[in-house]
Amino acid sequence: MSTTSKLAIAIMAAGKGTRLKSSRAKVLHQIGGRALLLHVIEAARQVIAADQIYVITGHQAEAVEAVAASTGVHFVRQTEQLGTGHAIQCLQKSLAGKVAPQNLIVLSGDVPLITPETITALRDFQLAQHAAMSILTAVPADPTGYGRVLRTEENSHDVAAIVEQKSLTKEQLALPHSIREINSGIYAFSTEKLFAQLGKLSAANSAGEYYLTDIAALLVAAGEKVVALPAADIHEVLGANTLAELMQLDATLRLRTAEKLLAQGVSIYRPETCVIDSGVTIGADTIIEPFVQLLGATRIGSECRIRSYSVLHDTVLGDNVLVRNSCVLDSSEVGNGALIGPFANLRPESKIGEGAHIGNFVETKKVRIGKGSKANHLSYLGDAVIGSGVNVGAGAITCNYDGVNKHQTTIEDGVFVGSDSTLIAPITIGEGAYVAAGSTITTDVPAGALGISRAHQANKPGWVAERKAKAKKS
Ligand code: UD1
Ligand code: CA
Repeated sequence: MSTTSKLAIAIMAAGKGTRLKSSRAKVLHQIGGRALLLHVIEAARQVIAADQIYVITGHQAEAVEAVAASTGVHFVRQTEQLGTGHAIQCLQKSLAGKVAPQNLIVLSGDVPLITPETITALRDFQLAQHAAMSILTAVPADPTGYGRVLRTEENSHDVAAIVEQKSLTKEQLALPHSIREINSGIYAFSTEKLFAQLGKLSAANSAGEYYLTDIAALLVAAGEKVVALPAADIHEVLGANTLAELMQLDATLRLRTAEKLLAQGVSIYRPETCVIDSGVTIGADTIIEPFVQLLGATRIGSECRIRSYSVLHDTVLGDNVLVRNSCVLDSSEVGNGALIGPFANLRPESKIGEGAHIGNFVETKKVRIGKGSKANHLSYLGDAVIGSGVNVGAGAITCNYDGVNKHQTTIEDGVFVGSDSTLIAPITIGEGAYVAAGSTITTDVPAGALGISRAHQANKPGWVAERKAKAKKS
């Protein structure tokens, strides 16, 4: 840490998340398609540089650190998770001998909707109040489960203590003015004053943990000032302790994302039915119909329409693309003006050219399809390079797999592939060639040629009546 450092941010992320009943660490659970911890780091990084951010890890530390590694934050290990107070004691230990920052903001890895504006407001409040500790609070409809903030008196900034839900006494529950005010688990501290009290924490409570919340009363007892700042938006401070809470936060975040997109000129019908990840971008005048999922790093151009029940993951669409109902597009690219679906499955590395049509029940994988080419019905096109102006008939298949290896199919510009033909790779169909319907093509078809491979048809006149007559006799 540099000697000039005034502010650092600690993010507590070492806990297990017992109440989620999951084998995965809580902070790795996702909302808006991103791990809880990454949302918190992202907010923190908009306030200060990553090298002033300390993430405290413990439960599944390797996995948690791997997810956040690319953000450039520091990690501090809390090998045994003895409570939030102990987490900050671990940070204190790791900073020993270094110049500590004047102020320390503490965030919780499981309170993911916190915004940079609110973190900054808390820091400013702390500085203006000359306080030892500032607590971000809220008054939700149901405060159950949260620690409560006890003010010295109603309408005062000053706090007497934080009391965990489990430790609330009958008398405290009877207090009218402060008992519904919850502790968000987000604080600003004078680092020096915090560190002076940390060693005094005791684990003599029903959970047997070192509660960081006990610091409030310790500071007050030491004659220090502890204040509380109510959050402007209650959603910012809600925690994800149970799956029900996690889903609620996910819905809130996705609605925020939808609102942002609506403000940018994207029409989203029934946004509450859509699942749109935070990282998705969409151009103006695009229409998203109900029950659409847009996931990961999906980017959609302008004037597109995504019809209901389609799911796009890490996919890039140009402008003017129509994705009809019930399509799956994964890690693919689609050019301007293309038509996809209904019921098309674009598997990874499908690159669909400008104005191309990929119609119903067509599956593509690792394929490049040129400008204006069409595969409108019931095809599988995999490991193929297909030129422009190609027409792939209904049911045509690239046989790319010989049971051991995958092979390439090349279909040059202007080719006409008749219905129900099978192209056995490796194979090239030359420019402008035709493949007759129902053919099994095993060798290259030269440019301009007709490739035909099917048994000659024989019609036997009167055959049906003869057969029936024979059957009667016997
Ligand atoms: C905590 C507060 C509570 C507050 C609530 C707000 C305490 C004792 N209580 O309760 O007053 O209302 O947050 O959301 O602090 N963690 C560690 N190491 C540990 C234990 C926890 O890093 O040893 C991390 C967790 O991963 C989590 C955060 O600290 O990200 C909060 O821990 P959690 O157990 O969820 O605390 P709450 O019971 O929610
Ligand atoms: Ca929590």
